[in-house]
Amino acid sequence: MYQSIEIAPRAMSKPAAFVCLFFDDKVLRESDRALDKPVKGALAAALKRAEVSGSAGESHVVDAGRARYVLVGLGEARKLDARTMRQVGAAAVRALDRIGAATAALQLVGLSTEAMPAERAAQALAEGIGLAAFDFADFKATTKKEGKVKALKLGSNDSTLTTALRKGLALADSTNFARRLGATPPNVATTTYVAAQAQKLARGSKGRLKCRVLKGPALVREKLVGLINVGKASENPPCLIELTWSPRGARKTVLLVGKTICYDTGGLSLKINNGMKGMKYDKNGGMAVLGAMHAIAHTIRPSCRVVALLPAAENSISDEAYRPDDIITYLNGVSVEVTNTDAEGRLVLADALAWGCRKVKPDAIIDLATLTGGVVVALGSACAGLFCNNDKLRGRIECAAEGTGDRVWRLPLWEDYREMMKSKHADIWNSAPVRNAHPIQGAAFLSYFVDEKTPWAHIDIAGTSNIDSDQSPFVAGPTGFGVRLLASVLENWE
Ligand code: BES
Ligand code: MN
Ligand code: ZN
Repeated sequence: MYQSIEIAPRAMSKPAAFVCLFFDDKVLRESDRALDKPVKGALAAALKRAEVSGSAGESHVVDAGRARYVLVGLGEARKLDARTMRQVGAAAVRALDRIGAATAALQLVGLSTEAMPAERAAQALAEGIGLAAFDFADFKATTKKEGKVKALKLGSNDSTLTTALRKGLALADSTNFARRLGATPPNVATTTYVAAQAQKLARGSKGRLKCRVLKGPALVREKLVGLINVGKASENPPCLIELTWSPRGARKTVLLVGKTICYDTGGLSLKINNGMKGMKYDKNGGMAVLGAMHAIAHTIRPSCRVVALLPAAENSISDEAYRPDDIITYLNGVSVEVTNTDAEGRLVLADALAWGCRKVKPDAIIDLATLTGGVVVALGSACAGLFCNNDKLRGRIECAAEGTGDRVWRLPLWEDYREMMKSKHADIWNSAPVRNAHPIQGAAFLSYFVDEKTPWAHIDIAGTSNIDSDQSPFVAGPTGFGVRLLASVLENWE
């Protein structure tokens, strides 16, 4: 697969391939008819073939004349949306990679429909291209498959769409940055490594992002007891990573929090059988927040202040491990009885939420976490679970979710569920001794650490942040879920 993709400033005169998009009426679009003349109608003829249906994301390569033509189906015209365009982009880049094209002209003129302006279509297409080009081969030593061509240059026949295409590619880059970190194994991507990546992101932002890492005695001083306890058993020390985007004249502050458990063994409540495999992805909430900060600094540049907090720890076992029955008292005064050391995410998130409310004084909070297996059972990988105490914030998130394809579905957080979290020997426990409503228990627990008046959303991404099978434009593995969602939410924040 291509390692780099760029958008040419102008239309290309002699590309190796043309990417032509067609609807399920199987008629060559007007702007592509000129291409068909020199090849004596080969394109129109190809569309008429029985195996060509024009369904969204199907692709065919036609060899004719000096160039090659990648024909990609758009499906039904009246159903064309950003989701389809991302699948179309994915199909296009896979076909281009297969034929080893180093340059390609995207035939985009006249693509806008009533439902979707051309800019939106172009941005989504480029997102699909960039997302489908993700290939995690960092650790392939002997079986690395080198693509025929490393770089792809794309031009559009509609030069007004260059900015939208570049934006789409840039957002895919930020997403792929999060995916790469997510895929990095736990023997490499330790708490210290993730902190170093955050520092590197800040250094590469030309001073636009500031990074600070609290560790060791600073955790004690700041009473970050969740991190201290969850991280105790590991050689890799826990830390709280903070990134700040602070534009001049900012009036509002949004706090982003991402669960960053670099590995989750379950601790003394050890995970069983196959329950542990894949727990390198337990840092994906944090990685999504890092990816969003990447997009914020490089592409979105919102006018509000954004503070990102990543509570990072490894949930491991040793004679120093925290245990079921331990009681921990947080900096906001809430005491927690540990009933299960595998409900560790909420313990470190509680630090970031309580500390964030006190120090950052945010106008809104959004946290992302691979918090529960229960949300995977309930919602699968089609959407994440959303909990929100504020209708305006919820509207913003739901709107961004539809637009970016990082879908969410709201679950309830009534007082009944908060009651469930009350414990015998402390204020609350980290998990009720019943299997009921696990995703909601998680959210209810977190609510004890958020100032009541602050609009807050918790997004449980356990089912969406990595997937077991391909779901175009994504291949099996990390999806970077949340990066484009957060970027889109913040883009429109005053
Ligand atoms: N990291 C897991 C949640 C998870 C499970 C993510 C499966 C992805 C796939 C979390 O720390 C956890 O272990 N949650 C427990 C909570 C329970 C002990 C209350 C769970 O969901 O079983
Ligand atoms: Mn766990
Ligand atoms: Zn976990």
